[in-house]
Amino acid sequence: MNRSDKKMTHLQSGTRTTGAFALAAAVALAGLAGGCADDGPQPWALTKITQDYTFPARDAAGKVVKGGVVVPAAALNRGREAYVHYCYACHGMDGDGKGPSSYGLRPPPRNFKKGNFKFGAVPAGKLPSDVDLARIIWDGLHGTAMLPWDIPEQQLWEVIQFIKTFPGVDGKDNRWQQKFTRGKKKGQLKAKIGEPIKTTPDPWKGKSQAAIEKGEELYHLKAQCWTCHATYLTKQDFSDRSLAVDGKAKTTFRPNMYESKLVEAKDLYGVDVLPPDFTIDKLRSIRRGNELTDLHRLISAGVGKMPAWTGALSESELWALAYYVRSLQLLGEPENRAKRAALWDKLEIQPKFVPPPPPPAPATDEADEDGDEGDEAAKKKADDGEKKTATAAAKPAPAKPATPAKPAAPAAPAAPKTAAAPAEPAPAKPAAKPAAPAAPAAP
Ligand code: HEC
Ligand code: HEC
Repeated sequence: MNRSDKKMTHLQSGTRTTGAFALAAAVALAGLAGGCADDGPQPWALTKITQDYTFPARDAAGKVVKGGVVVPAAALNRGREAYVHYCYACHGMDGDGKGPSSYGLRPPPRNFKKGNFKFGAVPAGKLPSDVDLARIIWDGLHGTAMLPWDIPEQQLWEVIQFIKTFPGVDGKDNRWQQKFTRGKKKGQLKAKIGEPIKTTPDPWKGKSQAAIEKGEELYHLKAQCWTCHATYLTKQDFSDRSLAVDGKAKTTFRPNMYESKLVEAKDLYGVDVLPPDFTIDKLRSIRRGNELTDLHRLISAGVGKMPAWTGALSESELWALAYYVRSLQLLGEPENRAKRAALWDKLEIQPKFVPPPPPPAPATDEADEDGDEGDEAAKKKADDGEKKTATAAAKPAPAKPATPAKPAAPAAPAAPKTAAAPAEPAPAKPAAKPAAPAAPAAP
């Protein structure tokens, strides 16, 4: 029932049929825009665009459109006017997120010069598609100043193109306009839209309780979502389950484990961000009536510093996590207050944690190495940063939380060990190799 659902297909084709603008394109002169933006004293959104721009694109099937899509100056100028009408008050005439209404907003309006986006259905850190941007703009981001905007489709498409024209920081090409600077492809478009995350069939339909239980396990064990978000198990339960599932009891816990941990993200958004506590905070990009699908998208894609889990977890696991997070989100509904209070009480007034007796000392020293690793160290070890876009460590920093969250946790006293690296999903264990093919049976 989201507006964007209804309109998206149409928009998608709009993205591809730039031919509709052929006439305007023919009139517009000038080579492709690049970093040659003239950064005069005139604010960008008040400066007439005189050249066509080429932006990266994917077609409806998700394939990269070679060479990108040309957007004519005329369309960009219409988008510019719509931007001045609807968006500049927060995002600023120069796209830097410092419009007259931006002051004091937390989170702050996005700086489009940097071109960092959070909620696209693409792995964290990649550029979103126009369809993603339309969903975000039409449906808004709950709990932030970014409200849903009811803008006619054609105009919305033009605004979306226009926000890609802002010159990058220091007048460099922004992320939408990046080109190869050397080699055979020099001058050609290098920017790319991220690989789209597809909504796969929900394998847990009709088995939601089982999904929630599986999700709870994954959240705390394999995916370690609690390194940034809150933990929702008692220490005893956490430890017992890790012993049952991983064969190794968890005995050390991060400070303030029942609170989210501030994640350093100043480089991306100008502020650090406090991950939501799912039982209290509004989830920004999760739309009413579409929660499970949106959670599947979000968890698969990650958010800025929250790494993408697509590929690292199976579809069934991603969906189970969506069910679990949804079950926590439902605890925030008025009719579930008592249940939420019961969960919080259980966590707050838990019996003293009794670590299980250490296993008998193993004969090899290989196990020894594992033995004295805290969770943090274990994660550092998993150095397959390739899939994950987030690598910065979440510092137990005292800075102000950026999100309108519950009363801030007193900053964790600096943990002795350096901060947790973002959870690296445990590398999937290689399946036991089948034995060498048996010799063909004798005839
Ligand atoms: C009242 C202030 C306000 C106005 C007006 C506004 N925005 Fe935003 N916008 C925000 C804030 C705040 C954020 C940051 C939200 C966050 O980081 O979670 C944001 C974020 C965004 C994002 C980033 C989404 C992502 O996935 O990271 C886009 C794109 C965007 N706005 C587009 C627009 C467009 C286009 C318009 C005009 C049609 C507009 N905004 C009008 C406040 C505003
Ligand atoms: C490296 C830290 C980190 C880890 C690990 C992490 N997250 Fe997040 N997560 C964040 C941050 C930061 C945000 C808030 C992003 C923002 O709004 O800018 C977030 C936001 C979310 C949201 C809310 C999205 C919205 O639309 O508001 C969901 C849902 C979520 N995370 C689920 C998970 C799940 C499930 C896991 C484990 C599979 C996980 N996260 C692991 C840092 C993390």
